[in-house]
Amino acid sequence: MVVGARLEGIQLSGIRKMFELTTERSVNLGLGEPDFQPAQHIRQALSDAVEKGYNKYGPTSGISNLREALANGARKYRSDITANDIVVTTGSTQALMITAQYLFNPGDDVLLPDPGFVLNVPQVRIAGARPLMYPLKQEHEFIPQVDDLEKLVTPKTVAIYTNSPSNPTGGVMSIEDIRAITQFAEDHDLWIVSDEVYDQIVYDREHQSFLGDYDKVIHINSLSKTYAMTGWRFGFLITKAPIIDKLSILNYYTIACPNVPTQHAALAAMTGPQEHVKQMVNEFKRRRDLIVDRLNRIDGIHCLVPKGAFYAFPKYDFNISALDFAMECARSDLICTHGSAFGDAGEGHIRFSYANSMDNINKGIDIFEEVCEKIKG
Ligand SMILES: Cc1ncc(COP(=O)(O)O)c(C=O)c1O
Repeated sequence: MVVGARLEGIQLSGIRKMFELTTERSVNLGLGEPDFQPAQHIRQALSDAVEKGYNKYGPTSGISNLREALANGARKYRSDITANDIVVTTGSTQALMITAQYLFNPGDDVLLPDPGFVLNVPQVRIAGARPLMYPLKQEHEFIPQVDDLEKLVTPKTVAIYTNSPSNPTGGVMSIEDIRAITQFAEDHDLWIVSDEVYDQIVYDREHQSFLGDYDKVIHINSLSKTYAMTGWRFGFLITKAPIIDKLSILNYYTIACPNVPTQHAALAAMTGPQEHVKQMVNEFKRRRDLIVDRLNRIDGIHCLVPKGAFYAFPKYDFNISALDFAMECARSDLICTHGSAFGDAGEGHIRFSYANSMDNINKGIDIFEEVCEKIKG
């Protein structure tokens, strides 16, 4: 075997490449993180933890009162979740990585959403498994269709990944969608790897979780987006299946233990006031309404109203690849992401993050309008 063979063909994501084109003049509607800072009491808890001397190694799966607080939060989805069902990780990125490392062997097949979050395909490949891409289409509000899954599933399929609310589409599954996919997973004895990092960022509805009666679910979550603490790298996973000790062993061999001061801040986030989260989500909703309205006024652009996360994922009618379209925008000082960065089925779409001010969204869409005019010629 060639040195580094598992990384063959794997590069940094397309989002990063667009980000690198940012200049001082750019309006950035490319980034996938809140433009807010963590609330004051959460920042204070982080500096207090450092001052109080919580600067040493901690337990491999995370400190117990924090895991209890996380379990308490998850009991709204499944009432028998306990602290012992949780492993705290370095962002959900690492939770996804150890999940893939544990679940898959070379020769396995894994069902992944297309378009979908940029880490999924590389992580599954690095684990030696084969991604089988299932389509998310605008005409189905970007919700997976069981018929499509049935056509793709093979005897070697081990798992299906889901992501609701979705990055990049903003699609949100209903309880009926969750039931249908869970039934499909049960019929084929599959694991469900359910990425729910945007569970608190939903508009005019309650989030529906895959945590339920079916035990072969690994729920992936994070405080990155909810509490605007992407740089602090706090994530976690929850499962009722009896594999938590194995995942904890992988945690140990990857990071020894999660970042200790950040866990104290996470505890403050989970147990403190939640009003600031509601305010942030209300502000995202105002911005969503603005961007969707402005996009749909452009001839040749068709945008669904996203039900969650902070991305708009319009389809366009023009004869240009999504990458060339996004590059043309970048040359005009607008950073956005080509839909094809999220998989082949994202071709013909552009992703805008509306985690930016109303002013910048207006400026960005002014530029986008001009670029569209130019492309139409
Ligand atoms: C769907 C989804 N999952 C996981 C992540 C990773 O987030 P983190 O590692 O900060 O928890 C992101 C970040 O953009 C995401 O959009």
